[in-house]
Amino acid sequence: MVEIAPSILSADFTRLGEQIAAAERGGATIIHFDVMDGHFVPNITIGLPVLRSLARATRLPIDAHLMISEPGLYAEQFVEAGAQMVSVHIEADPHIHRTLASIKKKGAKAGIVINPATSLSAIEEALQYADYVLVMSVNPGFGGQTFIPESLEKVRRLRRLIDERGLATRIEIDGGIGPDNIADAAAAGAEIFVAGTSVFGQPDPAAAVRGLLSASAQLV
Ligand code: DX5
Ligand code: ZN
Repeated sequence: MVEIAPSILSADFTRLGEQIAAAERGGATIIHFDVMDGHFVPNITIGLPVLRSLARATRLPIDAHLMISEPGLYAEQFVEAGAQMVSVHIEADPHIHRTLASIKKKGAKAGIVINPATSLSAIEEALQYADYVLVMSVNPGFGGQTFIPESLEKVRRLRRLIDERGLATRIEIDGGIGPDNIADAAAAGAEIFVAGTSVFGQPDPAAAVRGLLSASAQLV
């Protein structure tokens, strides 16, 4: 099942409610929320107070992507603030088994995020504890970057690994996704597509989501 998860990083924060409503009208089913701490990644964005407001402004599930050091210290607070999905970077957490369990215990879906140059072998053991894996197709930190084409092969290999083990883990992809590459990413095995620039960087976010949904269904 294809789901579009617009990233509010590229939205107009002075009218966030309106922008999200437009994305929802277009068929978005998840809202992607990028948290950056200026330490794990070289940028600072938004955190718990904005998440609390946002959770009141939409019925869509909010997917918090934690690009922060020591995510285990904060993950539960993101669930309490209203996130139904919380993902943590394998590169940032030596105790990811515990962190994923704590997210699930609070009642949210738990995800592992993997950077472009991190080997899939780093997450093999933890895969069984995750509801989803977020494959980064750019280096985390900024919106509007160019899609790294090798990410497709990584998604394919991850898909095989998940299927071989009979797991129900979903694959999400994040970074540089647009109408030109969404069908390739879907064919590779991704199901949830984060899109910042290609939704909120467009004059009509509702039309942009509709465009992504129809592009994802094209044969490659
Ligand atoms: C990048 C973030 C992404 C970003 C995607 O570090 O994790 O979610 O918002 O933006 P686009 O779609 O513009 O690459
Ligand atoms: Zn993200």
